[in-house]
Amino acid sequence: MKIRIETERLYLREFIIEDAQLIIDLNSDIDVYRYTGDGPVKDIEEAKRILTDIIFPQYKNKIGRWAVHLKSNHEFIGWCGLKHLAETNETDLGYRFFKKHWGKGYATESAKALLDYGVNTLKLKNIIARAAKENLASLHVIKKLGMVYVKDELCAHDPAEVYILK
Ligand SMILES: CC(C)(COP(=O)(O)OP(=O)(O)OC[C@H]1O[C@@H](n2cnc3c(N)ncnc32)[C@H](O)[C@@H]1OP(=O)(O)O)[C@@H](O)C(=O)NCCC(=O)NCCS
Repeated sequence: MKIRIETERLYLREFIIEDAQLIIDLNSDIDVYRYTGDGPVKDIEEAKRILTDIIFPQYKNKIGRWAVHLKSNHEFIGWCGLKHLAETNETDLGYRFFKKHWGKGYATESAKALLDYGVNTLKLKNIIARAAKENLASLHVIKKLGMVYVKDELCAHDPAEVYILK
């Protein structure tokens, strides 16, 4: 298991192909995917395709969506990660957790550590985050991270806001 980052309560590790069921489980709740632009994952084959085609290719840049676990009992609670956007040469911050773990500061704690890693270890510039205007929790996390509003835009036809790390 390749652990990338540890925080006070969490550790972040790379996904492996055996995690396909976790991808299905996480995306099985409409409250979790309401603002994410995707939806339920059909079956284990589709979950494996998401891992091999979308998630694993990012790992060669030492970034990507990383599985987040509680240190206390090793429970998988969701993912948090940085993704390189080739079209704009930006790095996009994202996160997604099971509902039962919302509101405990895990998104903020894991994203803070990721931003620190992105800026200080990888020397990344142009780290951005976007969230639907209705996704108040995500916007709140982005603001708690100290990111700065850049512009409004449409994300999958929904009004969204874009922020950058200064
Ligand atoms: C967005 C998400 C990752 C936040 O995770 P989290 O671990 O609950 O976030 P945190 O606990 O670190 O912070 C959430 C903050 O938003 C606040 N918040 C939650 N719901 C809110 C709402 N409806 N309006 C305003 N603030 C809200 C919380 O009070 C908390 O702020 P506080 O620490 O100042 O009290 C989680 O809700 C999630 O997984 N959502 C589904 C996936 C998703 O939408 N991902 C983002 C796509 S852009």
